[in-house]
Amino acid sequence: MRIEIKNQENIREAAHQFIENMGDSHVFAFYGKMGAGKTTFIKAICEELGVDDVITSPTFAIVNEYTTNGNDNGNTQNIFHFDFYRIKKLEEVYDMGYEDYFYSGSLCFIEWPELIEDLLPEDAQRVTIEEQADGSRVVKSEE
Ligand SMILES: Nc1ncnc2c1ncn2[C@@H]1O[C@H](COP(=O)(O)OP(=O)(O)O)[C@@H](O)[C@H]1O
Ligand SMILES: [Mg+2]
Repeated sequence: MRIEIKNQENIREAAHQFIENMGDSHVFAFYGKMGAGKTTFIKAICEELGVDDVITSPTFAIVNEYTTNGNDNGNTQNIFHFDFYRIKKLEEVYDMGYEDYFYSGSLCFIEWPELIEDLLPEDAQRVTIEEQADGSRVVKSEE
C-alpha cells in the first residue's frame, strides 16, 4: 500500500484509503520520525472509523482507548492508540498488560513501535510515514 497525503485537507480521504486496505490485520505499527505525522494520521483514521472522542497523542498514558459510534453498521468498536516514545524499560510495557491489548482482536495503532519491537505480534502490519520535501506525507506498508 502507498498513500500520498498532499496536505491536511485531504487527510480524511487518505485515511479512508488506508482503512480500505487494512485487510485482516488489527495491529498496525507506525514508524516515522518525530513530526512525520503519525498522530495526525492515526487521528484521521480513528475519526474516519467513527470515533467522536477527542484524539490526542497518548504520550503520558502510553495507551488511549476510543470507541467508535457505530453509525456505519450499528456496532461500536474499541480502538487502542499507543505511544511508546517515553518508555524507559520494557517492564513498563509488561506492567501495562500490553498482551491484553495486542491480542484482544481490537484495532491497535502504535507510535514508536521500534521501542517495543520484540513485543509486536508476528502479524502486526508495519506502516511507515515520511515527510517529503514539499511537506506532503507518504504512507507505505508491506501489504
Ligand atoms: N499530512 C500532513 N500534512 C501536513 N502537515 C502535517 C501532516 N501530518 C501532520 N502534519 C503536521 O506535522 C506536525 C507533526 O505531526 P504529528 O502527527 O504530531 O507527528 P508525529 O506523531 O509523527 O510526531 C503537526 O504540526 C501536524 O500539523
Ligand atoms: Mg505522535
